[in-house]
Amino acid sequence: MQEKIEKILNYTKEKLNTITSSAACQDLRVEILGKSGEITNLFRFMREVPPEKKGEVGKLLNDAKQQVEGWIQAKEAFIAEQELNNQIKNSEKIDITLPTKEVCGSLHPRTIIQKQIEDVFISMGFVVEDGNEIETEYNNFTAVNVPQNHPARDMQDTFWLDNGQVLKTHTSASQNRILRKYTPPIRAIFPGRCFRNESLDAGHENTFFQLEGVIVDKEVSVGNLIYFMKEMLSKIFKKEIEVRLRPGFFPFTEPSFEMDVRCPFCDGKGCSTCKNGGWIELCPCGMIHPQVLKNAGINPEEYSGCAFGLGLDRMVMMSAGINDIRELNSGNLKLLKQFKLDF
Ligand code: DAH
Repeated sequence: MQEKIEKILNYTKEKLNTITSSAACQDLRVEILGKSGEITNLFRFMREVPPEKKGEVGKLLNDAKQQVEGWIQAKEAFIAEQELNNQIKNSEKIDITLPTKEVCGSLHPRTIIQKQIEDVFISMGFVVEDGNEIETEYNNFTAVNVPQNHPARDMQDTFWLDNGQVLKTHTSASQNRILRKYTPPIRAIFPGRCFRNESLDAGHENTFFQLEGVIVDKEVSVGNLIYFMKEMLSKIFKKEIEVRLRPGFFPFTEPSFEMDVRCPFCDGKGCSTCKNGGWIELCPCGMIHPQVLKNAGINPEEYSGCAFGLGLDRMVMMSAGINDIRELNSGNLKLLKQFKLDF
């Protein structure tokens, strides 16, 4: 038996030396170890081996089997490496310096507008602050002069959390924290995502973006508000922009206004963007209510302030001619890619 095994091992070794492909390795494996392979056949003689010799012969056969499998595997690995080296050397050279065809994403039009507005305000001495998306009831309402049971709370249908906090309904929710963070004079803007339980339509989303601004100093007046907004809009639209104020109502400002902008697309002559009215309603604003200053530890006898709450989605829709706010959150790349916001 030993002789037979040695013969097979020698034969296998010689054959392996001549083999150059992995397919030939597999053929050899079948020839020696397959169902009717040379070594497999020897296992059949086990029946004739006397019981006291069975252990010894069985071990010889198993060792031989393992040895052959090991040799074949080593040869296969060697051939695979050679094949790879040949590929790299010859036909499949990859030039890593060639430009690749990468698909790059782009900023969302809302992000583009936000960055542009931030840059303008920064150039006018404003700091840019972040707001929380989950706010305390106090910051979202009470601090901005909307106490519990005040009818003004109904103006903002709110998502309440189990712990009594809210998804902020407006960026004004960050006013208290930011007014406390700095000592006047303060010039700050704070963009952020807001949430309201709205019934959705072309003009209403449950998730939308605002950009709030506050200016607190000695003797701040409506004139400051108009100046900064005019400056910002003129820089964004790259031309002189006219604004006008109409009376409004917000619990956190007194007096409160709605600021309109002379349509930058038709210069007030009338077009589809301004629905032929010549003016576009842009943002609510006003003089910060003395109670709001007090709530933030600022003495309203010494300081006054103004604030505005710009609708970022509205700015994008107006600039890009999108007439359904829901498109902005849709992730619809076909639509979003069309808008290159360049004024
Ligand atoms: N927070 C208001 C809203 O979302 C908007 C607003 C109005 C903000 C007047 C202001 C402001 O800062 O002065 O409805």
